[in-house]
Amino acid sequence: MNPLVSDGVVFQERTPVIVALDFADADTTLRFVRRLDPTLCQLKIGKELFTATGRQLTEQLINQGFKVFLDLKYHDIPHTVAAACKVAAEMGVWMVDMHASGGRRMMEAAVDAVSAYAHRPWLIGVTVLTSMTQEDLLELGSDTPVDEQVLRLAKLTQMAGLDGVVCSAQEASLLRAQLGSDFLLITPGIRLDVASNQDDQRRIMTPKMALAAGSSYLVMGRPITQAIDPVALLRQINEGHV
Ligand code: C5P
Repeated sequence: MNPLVSDGVVFQERTPVIVALDFADADTTLRFVRRLDPTLCQLKIGKELFTATGRQLTEQLINQGFKVFLDLKYHDIPHTVAAACKVAAEMGVWMVDMHASGGRRMMEAAVDAVSAYAHRPWLIGVTVLTSMTQEDLLELGSDTPVDEQVLRLAKLTQMAGLDGVVCSAQEASLLRAQLGSDFLLITPGIRLDVASNQDDQRRIMTPKMALAAGSSYLVMGRPITQAIDPVALLRQINEGHV
């Protein structure tokens, strides 16, 4: 696993998994999280759970010692995204993301907005969603190949001063080679068996393959939340067995 440096601290031994808490309410979430601890995984709060529970649950999980990725994928005018990132920094979230397609000025405003915080969140740009294929891009009017579009958005994200990108693990080796070893590659679309159920994901890989390709962190929702024994599965991934 690649060592990572943040605020001068080197994280050598860490769990690569970010569990996507895609639940509808606080009770279900807390019942699930009770089985976990911060040495097993990080947590991700997305649109569904945040819309349902807001700041309170996010802060509760941070207070329990979890690193929380606030995955609200901001995409708005620079002033609005910058203000939202500031609130995220005040909440103490570990990571927050925005669509890189919001443009360089939007991302630079976000960087400026959090730069004064001693423990600022890592800022992450979303490239092309892992649920999207070449046909989807064509429908949107772009005939650029998916990996080229991902690389273009990732370079823009890095130029704007963000800490990393969300991409598919299938693009991780390309981005790792082009963007260096310190740039964070956050990869959803992880499945335990690429030949079986993909749900709505399209550009997928297994945990082991994704880490070998250069992913920094694996975002995993349903494969963990619907597992018979999520804790055992997390241990297997952390030990590199899966
Ligand atoms: O259940 P599954 O493992 O597919 O969940 C993936 C999670 O990662 C979801 O919460 C989804 O919103 C998020 N995500 C994604 N693709 C991105 C960014 C985030 O699937 N590009």
